[in-house]
Amino acid sequence: MDDTETITRIIRGRRSLKPALMDAGRELPRPLLDLLFENANWAPTHGYTEPWRFKVFAGEARQTLASRLAEIYREVTPEAEFRQDKFDKLSRNPTLAGAVVALIMRRGDNPKIPELEEIEAVACAVQNMHLTAAAAGLGAFWSSPPLLDSGAAKRWLGLRDRDRCLGLFYLGWPREGEAWPKGVRKPVEEKVEWV
Ligand SMILES: Cc1cc2nc3c(=O)[nH]c(=O)nc-3n(C[C@H](O)[C@H](O)[C@H](O)COP(=O)(O)O)c2cc1C
Repeated sequence: MDDTETITRIIRGRRSLKPALMDAGRELPRPLLDLLFENANWAPTHGYTEPWRFKVFAGEARQTLASRLAEIYREVTPEAEFRQDKFDKLSRNPTLAGAVVALIMRRGDNPKIPELEEIEAVACAVQNMHLTAAAAGLGAFWSSPPLLDSGAAKRWLGLRDRDRCLGLFYLGWPREGEAWPKGVRKPVEEKVEWV
């Protein structure tokens, strides 16, 4: 069995699809969402800490998330730095997706595992989800507004001080008539050194 062609096609075809290009009205089947989380759960994990946690905002919870994000942005942003376009985007984006998943790193109790490795493990889990979504033709987008690191956001999400929300993962079917985004990368030869 050789699956390299299949995995290569999925890896290279995976794209970030912005919420504005998602069809909010088209439901995401629960078995597909469950498959995304199950595949996320198979990410590598140093010391089996399995630090990934997912909080799913679907249906009406999307509006609750949108309103709360906007409120938190207003709360934590100094007046001079406040940008109305950012506020509007946060108020709107979750309602454009089929579901939004808060990506959480729950810090394990093993002091031998550095925090960075817990974060890396969650990123691996997110990539598993993103590739699974891509294989199903489902759009996904990892957004990481700095406000997620605020005390207000952490309290709202029920996180402990040592946990972190690493982003919001927007999921949604591509809107009809919209092209799947094109990818761009500089050549890998610039990034590999053979010693
Ligand atoms: C950890 C992480 C955080 C990201 N946060 C944002 C973000 O806040 N805003 C954004 O526009 N894109 C964000 N992205 C997505 C990138 O913009 C996207 O991956 C990049 O444009 C390449 O496009 P592609 O994923 O379609 O290959 C993030 C990606 C990663 C891995």
